Amino acid sequence: MGSDTRYESAIADKNGASTRAQNRPYYTPVGNEEAVFRAAYRQGLSIVLKGPTGCGKTRFVEAMAHDLGRPLITVACHDDLTTADLVGRYLLRGDETVWVDGPLTRAVREGAICYLDEVVEARQDTTVVLHPLADYRRQLPIERLGVTLDAAPGFGLVVSYNPGYQSVLKDLKDSTRQRMVAIEFGFPAPEIEESIVAHEAGVGRETAAALVRFGQAIRRLETGGLREVASTRVLIAAGRLTAEGLSLGEAALAAIAGPLTDDATVGRGLAEMIDVYLDTGTGAGD
Ligand SMILES: Nc1ncnc2c1ncn2[C@@H]1O[C@H](COP(=O)(O)OP(=O)(O)OP(=O)(O)O)[C@@H](O)[C@H]1O
Ligand SMILES: [Mg+2]
Repeated sequence: MGSDTRYESAIADKNGASTRAQNRPYYTPVGNEEAVFRAAYRQGLSIVLKGPTGCGKTRFVEAMAHDLGRPLITVACHDDLTTADLVGRYLLRGDETVWVDGPLTRAVREGAICYLDEVVEARQDTTVVLHPLADYRRQLPIERLGVTLDAAPGFGLVVSYNPGYQSVLKDLKDSTRQRMVAIEFGFPAPEIEESIVAHEAGVGRETAAALVRFGQAIRRLETGGLREVASTRVLIAAGRLTAEGLSLGEAALAAIAGPLTDDATVGRGLAEMIDVYLDTGTGAGD
C-alpha cells in the first residue's frame, strides 16, 4: 500500500460501491472505546459493538478503520442474508459461470476491516460462517470453491447490534458472542454530546445545549411508551433544521418527537415537553 493511500479508508457497501475518505471521519470518543478497539484489533480479536440506534457505532468504526489505515467493508445485515451473500457465489456471465467474491471474502483477501451492521438480523445459519474467522483460526472456509482462506494480515471482524431493540429470539448465539470482545456504547456525557451536535449540525453551542438537555429529559423518562429514546442522531437532525431557520420547537417536533412515536398520547406528551424545554424562541444563530 502506497504511503499516500495509507490513511484512506474505503467504505464499500454490499454491492461493492465504495467511496474514499481522506480525512479522519469526525468521531469524539466517549470513553476508552478507541483504546479497546486498537488493542483487540492488534491482537486479532473480533469486536462486537453494542448500543442503541444513533449513538455513533458506525461512525466509530469508520474512524478506527481510518486510524488503522485499513479499508472498511460494511455489510448491512437482514434476515434474507445468506452465506453466499457474505462469501460469494457463481454467477452467469455470458455463457460462462464465474465466481464472484462476497464482501466477507474480499475483506479476508484484502486484509480489510469487515463491519457487519445489525448482525443479529442475519439468520444464525448465516453467522456460523464467522466462527472460524472470529477465533484463533482466522480462516474462512468457502465450501463452493473447496478452499479455506487464511485471513490476510490486517483483517478485522467487527459486528454491531442494538440489544434493546431486537427480539430475544434473534439474540446472538453464545458461541458467536464468546468469540468477540464487546464494546458497549451509550450516549455521551452532555458536554461531549453538545460539541458533537454543534459540529454535525453546524449550530451554535446554545442551540446544541438546549437540544441535548431536551434529549436527556427524554432519556430520563422511565419508558414513557417509547421503544427507543432520543439518539444523538435525532438531536443532530433537529439542529440541522434550526440551521435552516426553523425554531427549536418546530425542529424538535419534526426531527425528534415525530420519529420517536406514532402514538398520539405519547406524541402529545413529547410536544408538551418541547414547550417546556425548547419553545424559547431561540433558533439558529444563537
Ligand atoms: N461520538 C461521536 N462522535 C461523532 N459523531 C457522533 C458520535 N456519536 C454520534 N455521532 C453522530 O451521530 C450520527 C449517528 O451515528 P451512527 O450512524 O454512527 O450511529 P449508529 O450507532 O451506527 O446507529 P445505528 O445503530 O442506527 O446504525 C453520526 O452520523 C454522527 O453524526
Ligand atoms: Mg450504524
